[in-house]
Amino acid sequence: MSAKLYAFTTFLALTSALPSTLRSTLSERRAQNTECWQTNPGTQFYRCANGYVGCFATDPCALPPLASSTTIPTSTPTPEPPKVYEITKPRSFNIYVLSEAQHNVQDQVPHVDLNKPEGSRTTTTNAMVFDNVPAGAKNCQLKWRSTAPNDENNFTVSGNGQAWHRQLLGFPSGNEIVSYDGLKKYQDPNAEFSPSLDFTGWPELPGDHTGPTLNCAEQVAVELKGSDEGDQVNRVFMTLTETNGFYLSYEL
Ligand SMILES: *[C@@H]1O[C@H](CO)[C@@H](O)[C@H](O)[C@H]1NC(C)=O
Repeated sequence: MSAKLYAFTTFLALTSALPSTLRSTLSERRAQNTECWQTNPGTQFYRCANGYVGCFATDPCALPPLASSTTIPTSTPTPEPPKVYEITKPRSFNIYVLSEAQHNVQDQVPHVDLNKPEGSRTTTTNAMVFDNVPAGAKNCQLKWRSTAPNDENNFTVSGNGQAWHRQLLGFPSGNEIVSYDGLKKYQDPNAEFSPSLDFTGWPELPGDHTGPTLNCAEQVAVELKGSDEGDQVNRVFMTLTETNGFYLSYEL
């Protein structure tokens, strides 16, 4: 090979092998090439007009442009799994219908007390509302948990521990009273109480427990009552704190 031809082919090799010359400075290129040699021995740094940038063993600049290339597998982004959130400490109202005098009281308390005394066939009920559920929330579920008893936390079950729920269509607000009568306008005539909550063996079953699925809405309101079957006492008592009692979980 003549000296002239040799120089010419070398020049060709250089121009095609180093298309990055147009855009990177010499020192950048040196640094990137050093990186290529360290991470992938035998490769060089390329920055091609067709979109290839990085360390390659052979010149990728003659390949079809990246965006229109069908030979390069493109990864489809996997959708992020929904995140699960919770709302604790619902507003809670225990409703005593044990006597006419107590027929229409509002008793807002940070606990749920579903209580059927021994020999009685009447149980107290509870109405609970979770406020500010974000728009777009999905898979709303009523859950509960217990934690070691202390001044704040108490989860006590006596009797068969069966309880029922039904979701309310709304919740008393403003001057409306949360009571046996006040709840009537928010009860869904098509929704019966369903025997959905089983506290048998509590509170010796720590951890989180999943109850009924609820329709998500900005306000998720539920009415609860203990089973009124039998002559025995049936009582479910729980304080509502961050770590004890009912909470609402939802996905976003
Ligand atoms: C927990 O609540 C039940 C029902 O009200 C009560 O009888 C019991 O004394 C309470 N336990 C404690 C440790 O406060």
